[in-house]
Amino acid sequence: MEHETYQRVSDSQTTLTELMIPSYANFGGKVHGGILLSLMDKVAYVCATKHAGSYCVTVAVDGVEFLSPVEVGDLVSLKASVNYVGRTSMIVGIRVEATNPKTRQYKHTNSCYFTMAAKNEHGELIDVPGLILENEEQLRRFCEGKHLKSISKQKRELLKSNLSGDSIDALLKLIQNDKAQYIVG
Ligand SMILES: CC(C)(COP(=O)(O)OP(=O)(O)OC[C@H]1O[C@@H](n2cnc3c(N)ncnc32)[C@H](O)[C@@H]1OP(=O)(O)O)[C@@H](O)C(=O)NCCC(=O)NCCS
Repeated sequence: MEHETYQRVSDSQTTLTELMIPSYANFGGKVHGGILLSLMDKVAYVCATKHAGSYCVTVAVDGVEFLSPVEVGDLVSLKASVNYVGRTSMIVGIRVEATNPKTRQYKHTNSCYFTMAAKNEHGELIDVPGLILENEEQLRRFCEGKHLKSISKQKRELLKSNLSGDSIDALLKLIQNDKAQYIVG
């Protein structure tokens, strides 16, 4: 182990607040999903790098859903915490909230999980410090992160292996009721 250290969740907790300006809008007048994704990546990076004490990279993103639109003029706050640490990776949980500053109307728009890995100056993966869990919620989130890591791994393996040996006939049968046409030119 490179790191024998443990750090508190609160040591790396990060909140980023940004005003949604008109240039962030899509053709429908709402904020582009990509703007929010970029802010999520930024806050995940800050939180992960504070915990790891090193440069970090984004490995995977889970649970991003845009269930209610964010409006131009809203204040968007992204609250990030390290929920889980493995050997070299961390799962950062992000809660996204949008508030209309005039009406003070508030909505929770999304919660998602960014897996970040720590690297050294040579681009090699390095061990991250452990996590001190100080309450039941942090313990629960750590266990959920462990579960998410295992499910994500199984999902990747399933996707890779599941259909690779199937014949064209079997694949065509699978999509016979879908909106797709197989036309080889
Ligand atoms: C992701 C990356 C670090 C994996 O490297 P690797 O040599 O395959 O190393 P490993 O398989 O040991 O994975 C390293 C860690 O990432 C985790 N990991 C790897 N792929 C993952 C995935 N698809 N989803 C979630 N976690 C993943 C592993 O579980 C491991 O975690 P642990 O050490 O805490 O147990 C490497 O592919 C990389 O650097 N990718 C580029 C990342 C980048 O530049 N992102 C910026 C966006 S452009």
